Amino acid sequence: MKPLKIALTKGRLEKSATLLLEKAGIDCMLLKEKNRKLIFESTTQPVTFILAKAPDVTTYVKHGVVDVGIVGKDILMEQSRSHYEMLDLKIGICQFCLAAVKPFAAENYRRKVIATKYPNITRNYFNEKGEDVEIIKIEGSVELAPILELADAIVDIVETGATLRENGLMILDQMYPISARLIVNKASLKQNKQQLAGFIHRLEAATREE
Ligand code: PRP
Repeated sequence: MKPLKIALTKGRLEKSATLLLEKAGIDCMLLKEKNRKLIFESTTQPVTFILAKAPDVTTYVKHGVVDVGIVGKDILMEQSRSHYEMLDLKIGICQFCLAAVKPFAAENYRRKVIATKYPNITRNYFNEKGEDVEIIKIEGSVELAPILELADAIVDIVETGATLRENGLMILDQMYPISARLIVNKASLKQNKQQLAGFIHRLEAATREE
């Protein structure tokens, strides 16, 4: 049997995804050995793990070089890629929030500047509100932008709220809930129907145990 190729998001989701996969009976032994390797082939099961940056997980799934991916809904909302979103894994739970150092002053009619890693989500959110804003793309630690007075507010994911708190920012609006999803390559789903169905079924059962 050809190994099932699973792309996992490096970093924030790595630990909870590994725990969930273990619950689903997938051999994650090698994945737990902390080193710089990016590809792990299970020695006991036909499973290969690929560790990738979140936006690249969808790229690998889209091109069919992996069968499935585990990635945050934030990335899926920001990109428009071709894949099947199969399961809400109920891990990596957080919120998209609008946050700032201080509330928007109602009397200030200047066009607001919003810093974010997620320009598409931010544009859609303000379009729906009928507000015209300037969006500045920031790659990380977005909280710096309003502190340095580059932006009036940020749109970012908030998990524990510690980063906002420790940097003196407040939530102005809770926009959308986020969690990790299982995405599947469309062709893989047709070609490896049985193998994937078994995997998805086990993973779904594991999410219910959470
Ligand atoms: C994310 C997010 C916030 C922080 C929120 O950043 O962009 O900065 O986590 O988490 P908290 O509410 O638990 O504090 P991440 O750590 O992924 O790094 P980045 O800012 O470099 O993207």
